[in-house]
Amino acid sequence: MRTEIWAHRGFSAVYPENTVMSFQQAIALGVDGIELDVHLTKDGALVVIHDETVDRTTDGTGPVGRMTLAEVKRLHVLGPQGQQVPGARVPTLEEVLDVVASAPLRVSVNIELKSGVVLYPDLEIRTWQCVQQFGLQCRTVFSSFNHYSLLALKRQCNDANIGLLYMEGLVDPWLYARYLHAGALHPYHLAVNEHIVAGAHRDHLRVHVFTVNDPAEIRKLAAWGVDAVITDRPDAALQALS
Ligand code: G3P
Ligand code: CA
Repeated sequence: MRTEIWAHRGFSAVYPENTVMSFQQAIALGVDGIELDVHLTKDGALVVIHDETVDRTTDGTGPVGRMTLAEVKRLHVLGPQGQQVPGARVPTLEEVLDVVASAPLRVSVNIELKSGVVLYPDLEIRTWQCVQQFGLQCRTVFSSFNHYSLLALKRQCNDANIGLLYMEGLVDPWLYARYLHAGALHPYHLAVNEHIVAGAHRDHLRVHVFTVNDPAEIRKLAAWGVDAVITDRPDAALQALS
């Protein structure tokens, strides 16, 4: 199987991360998937942004969970060098899924549930319902570092395909994944090796590795047979695997 290339927060090395333009540019390059992060606003809107606060990626300040959607929508998302980029706004999950729904069928979406530092009520079921609204269940993998959040999602929506995000080395992670009824492992790139890829595949699990930008490392992971690399540099990754 070919190693897929998933754009981490879109084509985030060049465009403002987690914006519609960043996702559209990645899809235009020919990626197989996009990765995004989801939080809930004070008034219950699902918004696509990485951090718990808007401070790093926008021209505003404050926690996402204490702002209304209207307040978040007034902000400008900054480029990777902190520069102003006309038209870059924090999108709702709906706005991004609309882009995915009209993209070629090969394009999948990896939604990272950002529940952990802040616990958002019903984040899991609301995200699932949004995906359902677009009929994208089969093209979506839900990931999180908070495995309780994945468990909650799986209990409420058995059809949800979940991927276990983790940073450090786990022993035989496919056993743990089976216990949680996950479909994939999402290890940090320094926490994966050939043995883990083979073990996961033996148990019919996919392996999606983050965040890997070095072309030589991407080629090594592809040689091990990982199913997808999640990268800020989809341009370089496509070239590395061409
Ligand atoms: O999905 C992989 C990766 O996005 C997890 O880390 O911090 O970039 O959201 P982070
Ligand atoms: Ca993420």
